[in-house]
Amino acid sequence: MKKTVSKLLNAQVNKEFFSAYLYLGIAKFFTKQDLPGFANWYKVQAEEETEHAMKIYDYLLDQDEDVALDKIAAVNVDFKDALEAAKEADKHERYITAEIEKIMDAAVKEKDYRTQIFLNWFISEQEEEERNSKEMITKIEMLGSDKKNLYLLDKELGSRE
Ligand SMILES: [Fe+2]
Ligand SMILES: [Fe+2]
Repeated sequence: MKKTVSKLLNAQVNKEFFSAYLYLGIAKFFTKQDLPGFANWYKVQAEEETEHAMKIYDYLLDQDEDVALDKIAAVNVDFKDALEAAKEADKHERYITAEIEKIMDAAVKEKDYRTQIFLNWFISEQEEEERNSKEMITKIEMLGSDKKNLYLLDKELGSRE
């Protein structure tokens, strides 16, 4: 594997673990707001992010590359309200999409066909992630201002496994 590609994949392992960290932070915020359903939804999301990181970790090792496991950045979870937390998650997913696309650009440039196929999964996954994070904003905007509706939405989000 070319150095440019392996460096970007290594950085992405760290970014996916940071995503897990961010979602744990958001989950914690909702637990403190007495919204266990929201907290559950973001905890499940954090688990998904760990899986993303592990997918790249395994891929790098399978290709006889090293995995750096650098320091994970701290998370700031001082949100004003549920909407702000959801918007932060959405902003982050858009950033992650751009980062995945950068790795794809490098793989195309280096004619690394194997990594291109590997990254296809992440390209589709980011479409799902962006759809989910956008949907969350819409739901909070539609239902979040009313206490009864917020309670029902929290119940719905609690069912994510
Ligand atoms: Fe991810
Ligand atoms: Fe996902």
